[in-house]
Amino acid sequence: MSSLTRIVSWSHQLLCEVLEHGDLAVDLTAGTGQDTHVLAEAVGTEGQVVAFDLQAEALEQTTQRLQEHDFVVKSVPDDTEIPRAFGVYLVHACHSSLDKIITHPVKAIIANLGYLPGGNKSLVTRPDSTLAALSQSLELLVAGGRLAVTVYPAHPGGEEEGEAVNAFFCSLSRENWLVLSLRAANRSEAPYLLVAEHLP
Ligand SMILES: C[S@@+](CC[C@H](N)C(=O)[O-])C[C@H]1O[C@@H](n2cnc3c(N)ncnc32)[C@H](O)[C@@H]1O
Repeated sequence: MSSLTRIVSWSHQLLCEVLEHGDLAVDLTAGTGQDTHVLAEAVGTEGQVVAFDLQAEALEQTTQRLQEHDFVVKSVPDDTEIPRAFGVYLVHACHSSLDKIITHPVKAIIANLGYLPGGNKSLVTRPDSTLAALSQSLELLVAGGRLAVTVYPAHPGGEEEGEAVNAFFCSLSRENWLVLSLRAANRSEAPYLLVAEHLP
Protein backbone atom coordinates (compact mmCIF):
# COMPACT_ATOMS: atom_id res chain seq x y z
CA MET A 1 0.00 0.00 0.00
CA SER A 2 1.25 3.49 -0.78
CA SER A 3 2.58 5.53 2.14
CA LEU A 4 0.22 8.32 1.00
CA THR A 5 -2.64 6.40 2.63
CA ARG A 6 -0.98 6.22 6.05
CA ILE A 7 -3.26 8.90 7.42
CA VAL A 8 -2.81 7.94 11.08
CA SER A 9 0.97 8.20 10.74
CA TRP A 10 0.54 11.71 9.34
CA SER A 11 -1.55 12.63 12.37
CA HIS A 12 1.19 11.31 14.68
CA GLN A 13 3.84 13.25 12.84
CA LEU A 14 1.88 16.52 12.93
CA LEU A 15 1.21 16.22 16.67
CA CYS A 16 4.72 15.04 17.61
CA GLU A 17 6.10 18.12 15.83
CA VAL A 18 4.59 20.35 18.54
CA LEU A 19 4.86 18.03 21.56
CA GLU A 20 7.75 18.34 24.00
CA HIS A 21 8.67 16.36 27.10
CA GLY A 22 6.52 17.41 30.05
CA ASP A 23 3.49 18.46 27.94
CA LEU A 24 -0.12 17.41 28.47
CA ALA A 25 -1.72 15.52 25.55
CA VAL A 26 -5.15 13.94 25.13
CA ASP A 27 -6.45 10.96 23.16
CA LEU A 28 -10.23 11.21 22.74
CA THR A 29 -10.56 7.60 21.51
CA ALA A 30 -8.01 5.25 23.10
CA GLY A 31 -9.02 2.09 21.16
CA THR A 32 -6.05 -0.26 20.94
CA GLY A 33 -3.75 2.33 22.54
CA GLN A 34 -1.60 2.96 19.49
CA ASP A 35 -2.22 6.73 19.50
CA THR A 36 -2.02 6.95 23.30
CA HIS A 37 1.36 5.24 23.14
CA VAL A 38 2.67 7.68 20.51
CA LEU A 39 1.57 10.63 22.67
CA ALA A 40 3.11 9.07 25.79
CA GLU A 41 6.47 8.63 24.06
CA ALA A 42 6.33 12.24 22.83
CA VAL A 43 5.64 13.80 26.26
CA GLY A 44 8.02 11.42 28.07
CA THR A 45 7.85 10.21 31.64
CA GLU A 46 7.62 13.79 32.94
CA GLY A 47 4.61 14.49 30.71
CA GLN A 48 0.94 13.55 31.01
CA VAL A 49 -1.47 11.79 28.65
CA VAL A 50 -5.19 11.44 29.28
CA ALA A 51 -7.04 8.91 27.10
CA PHE A 52 -10.81 8.31 26.91
CA ASP A 53 -12.81 5.34 25.73
CA LEU A 54 -16.36 4.08 26.27
CA GLN A 55 -15.31 0.45 26.08
CA ALA A 56 -13.53 -1.41 28.90
CA GLU A 57 -12.07 -3.72 26.24
CA ALA A 58 -10.32 -0.77 24.57
CA LEU A 59 -8.92 0.51 27.85
CA GLU A 60 -7.61 -2.98 28.66
CA GLN A 61 -5.81 -3.10 25.30
CA THR A 62 -4.42 0.39 25.89
CA THR A 63 -3.23 -0.53 29.39
CA GLN A 64 -1.50 -3.64 28.09
CA ARG A 65 0.24 -1.77 25.27
CA LEU A 66 1.44 1.03 27.56
CA GLN A 67 2.62 -1.37 30.27
CA GLU A 68 4.57 -3.36 27.69
CA HIS A 69 6.46 -0.12 27.07
CA ASP A 70 7.01 0.49 30.81
CA PHE A 71 4.53 3.34 31.23
CA VAL A 72 2.65 3.62 34.52
CA VAL A 73 -1.09 3.64 33.76
CA LYS A 74 -3.73 5.03 36.12
CA SER A 75 -7.49 4.51 35.82
CA VAL A 76 -9.74 7.43 36.59
CA PRO A 77 -13.41 7.36 37.69
CA ASP A 78 -15.49 8.97 34.96
CA ASP A 79 -16.54 12.07 36.91
CA THR A 80 -13.20 13.01 38.46
CA GLU A 81 -11.17 16.06 37.48
CA ILE A 82 -7.59 14.98 36.82
CA PRO A 83 -4.79 17.01 38.42
CA ARG A 84 -1.86 18.17 36.29
CA ALA A 85 0.73 15.51 37.01
CA PHE A 86 2.79 13.00 35.06
CA GLY A 87 1.78 9.60 33.74
CA VAL A 88 -0.90 8.02 31.53
CA TYR A 89 -4.48 8.39 32.79
CA LEU A 90 -7.27 6.29 31.29
CA VAL A 91 -10.86 7.50 31.57
CA HIS A 92 -13.73 5.06 31.08
CA ALA A 93 -16.21 7.67 29.83
CA CYS A 94 -17.54 9.48 26.80
CA HIS A 95 -15.10 12.07 25.45
CA SER A 96 -17.86 14.68 25.70
CA SER A 97 -17.00 14.86 29.42
CA LEU A 98 -13.55 16.20 28.47
CA ASP A 99 -14.05 19.66 30.00
CA LYS A 100 -15.19 18.19 33.34
CA ILE A 101 -12.12 15.98 33.56
CA ILE A 102 -9.40 18.28 32.19
CA THR A 103 -9.13 21.97 33.05
CA HIS A 104 -5.43 22.51 32.31
CA PRO A 105 -4.03 23.79 29.00
CA VAL A 106 -3.32 20.99 26.51
CA LYS A 107 -0.66 20.91 23.75
CA ALA A 108 -2.06 18.19 21.47
CA ILE A 109 -5.31 16.29 21.09
CA ILE A 110 -5.95 13.29 18.84
CA ALA A 111 -9.19 11.57 17.83
CA ASN A 112 -9.27 8.49 15.66
CA LEU A 113 -12.98 8.08 14.90
CA GLY A 114 -15.03 4.99 14.05
CA TYR A 115 -14.97 1.58 15.77
CA LEU A 116 -12.43 -0.40 17.80
CA PRO A 117 -10.28 -2.38 15.34
CA GLY A 118 -11.17 -6.07 15.80
CA GLY A 119 -14.04 -5.08 18.14
CA ASN A 120 -17.77 -4.39 17.95
CA LYS A 121 -18.29 -2.55 14.66
CA SER A 122 -21.66 -1.17 15.76
CA LEU A 123 -20.10 0.73 18.66
CA VAL A 124 -18.83 3.75 16.73
CA THR A 125 -18.17 7.39 17.47
CA ARG A 126 -21.26 9.55 16.85
CA PRO A 127 -21.53 13.11 15.53
CA ASP A 128 -23.14 14.70 18.63
CA SER A 129 -20.59 13.49 21.18
CA THR A 130 -17.72 13.86 18.70
CA LEU A 131 -18.59 17.51 18.01
CA ALA A 132 -19.05 18.21 21.73
CA ALA A 133 -15.58 16.78 22.42
CA LEU A 134 -14.02 18.71 19.53
CA SER A 135 -15.54 22.03 20.69
CA GLN A 136 -14.23 21.45 24.20
CA SER A 137 -10.84 20.49 22.76
CA LEU A 138 -10.46 23.88 21.09
CA GLU A 139 -11.09 25.62 24.42
CA LEU A 140 -8.27 23.64 26.06
CA LEU A 141 -5.56 23.97 23.38
CA VAL A 142 -2.67 26.35 24.06
CA ALA A 143 -1.43 28.70 21.34
CA GLY A 144 0.63 26.53 19.00
CA GLY A 145 -1.30 23.44 20.11
CA ARG A 146 -2.91 21.10 17.58
CA LEU A 147 -6.06 18.98 17.28
CA ALA A 148 -5.86 16.06 14.81
CA VAL A 149 -8.92 14.04 13.82
CA THR A 150 -8.92 11.00 11.54
CA VAL A 151 -12.30 10.36 9.92
CA TYR A 152 -13.45 6.99 8.55
CA PRO A 153 -16.26 7.48 6.01
CA ALA A 154 -16.64 3.83 4.92
CA HIS A 155 -18.68 2.32 7.79
CA PRO A 156 -22.43 3.02 8.29
CA GLY A 157 -22.76 6.53 9.73
CA GLY A 158 -19.11 7.35 9.03
CA GLU A 159 -19.79 9.57 6.03
CA GLU A 160 -22.35 11.66 7.95
CA GLU A 161 -20.01 11.98 10.92
CA GLY A 162 -17.23 13.03 8.54
CA GLU A 163 -19.41 15.72 6.97
CA ALA A 164 -20.25 17.11 10.42
CA VAL A 165 -16.59 17.07 11.49
CA ASN A 166 -15.46 18.63 8.21
CA ALA A 167 -18.06 21.43 8.58
CA PHE A 168 -16.86 22.01 12.16
CA PHE A 169 -13.22 22.44 11.04
CA CYS A 170 -14.19 24.61 8.04
CA SER A 171 -16.14 26.95 10.36
CA LEU A 172 -13.12 27.82 12.54
CA SER A 173 -12.06 31.47 12.37
CA ARG A 174 -9.01 32.09 10.21
CA GLU A 175 -7.73 34.64 12.75
CA ASN A 176 -7.37 32.01 15.46
CA TRP A 177 -6.97 28.69 13.64
CA LEU A 178 -5.11 27.21 10.72
CA VAL A 179 -6.85 24.11 9.40
CA LEU A 180 -5.22 21.42 7.28
CA SER A 181 -7.24 18.80 5.40
CA LEU A 182 -5.39 15.75 4.09
CA ARG A 183 -7.29 13.26 1.97
CA ALA A 184 -7.01 11.04 -1.07
CA ALA A 185 -8.77 13.19 -3.69
CA ASN A 186 -9.92 10.26 -5.84
CA ARG A 187 -11.04 7.88 -3.03
CA SER A 188 -14.12 9.16 -1.23
CA GLU A 189 -14.23 6.05 1.01
CA ALA A 190 -10.64 6.44 2.29
CA PRO A 191 -9.90 7.75 5.80
CA TYR A 192 -8.87 11.40 5.94
CA LEU A 193 -7.26 13.76 8.38
CA LEU A 194 -8.21 17.21 9.67
CA VAL A 195 -5.77 19.18 11.81
CA ALA A 196 -6.39 22.54 13.49
CA GLU A 197 -3.53 24.59 14.94
CA HIS A 198 -4.28 27.29 17.50
CA LEU A 199 -2.55 30.41 16.19
CA PRO A 200 -0.72 32.65 18.69
C1 LIG B 1 -10.94 3.83 15.72
S1 LIG B 1 -10.98 3.42 17.41
C2 LIG B 1 -9.62 4.32 18.06
C3 LIG B 1 -8.30 3.79 17.66
C4 LIG B 1 -7.22 4.12 18.63
N1 LIG B 1 -6.96 5.52 18.80
C5 LIG B 1 -5.96 3.30 18.45
O1 LIG B 1 -4.85 3.87 18.53
O2 LIG B 1 -6.10 2.10 18.25
C6 LIG B 1 -12.36 4.33 18.04
C7 LIG B 1 -12.58 4.15 19.52
O3 LIG B 1 -13.50 5.16 19.95
C8 LIG B 1 -14.23 4.64 21.03
N2 LIG B 1 -15.42 5.49 21.23
C9 LIG B 1 -16.57 5.49 20.52
N3 LIG B 1 -17.40 6.43 20.99
C10 LIG B 1 -16.76 7.06 22.01
C11 LIG B 1 -17.10 8.11 22.89
N4 LIG B 1 -18.27 8.74 22.78
N5 LIG B 1 -16.21 8.48 23.84
C12 LIG B 1 -15.01 7.84 23.94
N6 LIG B 1 -14.62 6.82 23.13
C13 LIG B 1 -15.48 6.44 22.16
C14 LIG B 1 -14.52 3.22 20.62
O4 LIG B 1 -14.85 2.44 21.74
C15 LIG B 1 -13.21 2.82 19.93
O5 LIG B 1 -12.37 2.14 20.82
